[in-house]
Amino acid sequence: MMACQEWPEPIIRVQSLAESGINAIPERFIKPQSQRPKTQSNVVPTKQGFNDVDVDVDVENINIPVIDFQDLYGEDKNLKEQTLKRVSEACREWGFFQVLNHGVNHDLMKSAREVWREFFHQPIEAKEKYANSPLTYEGYGSRLGIKKGAILDWSDYFFLHYMPSSLRDQEKWPSLPNSLRDVINEYGDEVVKLGGRVLELLSINLGLKEDFLMNSFGGESEIGACLRVNFYPKCPQPDLTLGLSSHSDPGGMTILLPDENVSGLQVRRGEHWITVKPVPNAFIINIGDQIQVLSNAMYKSIEHRVIVNSNKDRVSLAFFYNPRSDLLIQPAKELVSEDRPPLYPPMTFDEYRLYIRTKGPCGKSQVESLTSQK
Ligand code: OGA
Ligand code: NI
Repeated sequence: MMACQEWPEPIIRVQSLAESGINAIPERFIKPQSQRPKTQSNVVPTKQGFNDVDVDVDVENINIPVIDFQDLYGEDKNLKEQTLKRVSEACREWGFFQVLNHGVNHDLMKSAREVWREFFHQPIEAKEKYANSPLTYEGYGSRLGIKKGAILDWSDYFFLHYMPSSLRDQEKWPSLPNSLRDVINEYGDEVVKLGGRVLELLSINLGLKEDFLMNSFGGESEIGACLRVNFYPKCPQPDLTLGLSSHSDPGGMTILLPDENVSGLQVRRGEHWITVKPVPNAFIINIGDQIQVLSNAMYKSIEHRVIVNSNKDRVSLAFFYNPRSDLLIQPAKELVSEDRPPLYPPMTFDEYRLYIRTKGPCGKSQVESLTSQK
């Protein structure tokens, strides 16, 4: 498919729509029944009673693992090992965890979230200056994909490139609020460092040399990184739509700064969706498709989605930490054996993105379709 320069139809800014005071959402945002969030009003009575109600009650009390990195850098070897083990289990079983004492300054996290909240709360004209196109997606956007008539998600976003530095173009970042560019540079540097530390932990846990994953990603100055700031406006009919449809992240890993007050992220666990309860000052980290490939599926890139609500806007910063886009990514030799053959063919991240784009989004973790391709 040729890259298309323009959107197929006029863009609807979801925030403007929400602020217009409508009490029913336009049809374009209504998801098919099977994709809607499972809330009380969406639960359909069946002969056996109410479908899945009992199971969902348990689901309410589950959270993704919360791991404190403090002990990783202390003296106590036992505590260090326990922490590594918890990271390992989280990567295998959940593909997601929250991390505390990650080394990123809490005030900086707060500032990063607040400058973006301020950006979105500016008048629409200030934001339209940065309107994006499907060619690079950089800038202010309200949809993904260019399929005419597609059902839309209830969110706007701002997307920017951070690494490699040759792609970092601050002129394309908002000039207001005044501090945004400085804050985002400082935040980006800190989060990139955290990403490097996490790659080291994952390499060790996989029984590989500690720099294995970083080398596979091309090295510190060569990695790719971009930021998508998501803005989920209040929604008058949250039961009928999603803030972000179900997907897996195509890149290496994602370091998400969620809204401190409003939950919304849901992670797939078998047939259930677990709502992540954000812990103050924590990041939510998840494995992307490229680490699933490198680990030969020891680690899982898990589907997730975002639900919205009628009371509160929600802001999240998704920092995508990716391999250099022209390097071949394939299962580590050490993780391949006769019993466990390579599950994926070698492919660069560029090729992979093209592959999933032409295939079109699918509900399942996208990387799964590579396994069946051979
Ligand atoms: C994403 C994502 C989750 C959130 O941007 O890929 O999954 O909570 N975001 O906004
Ligand atoms: Ni995601």
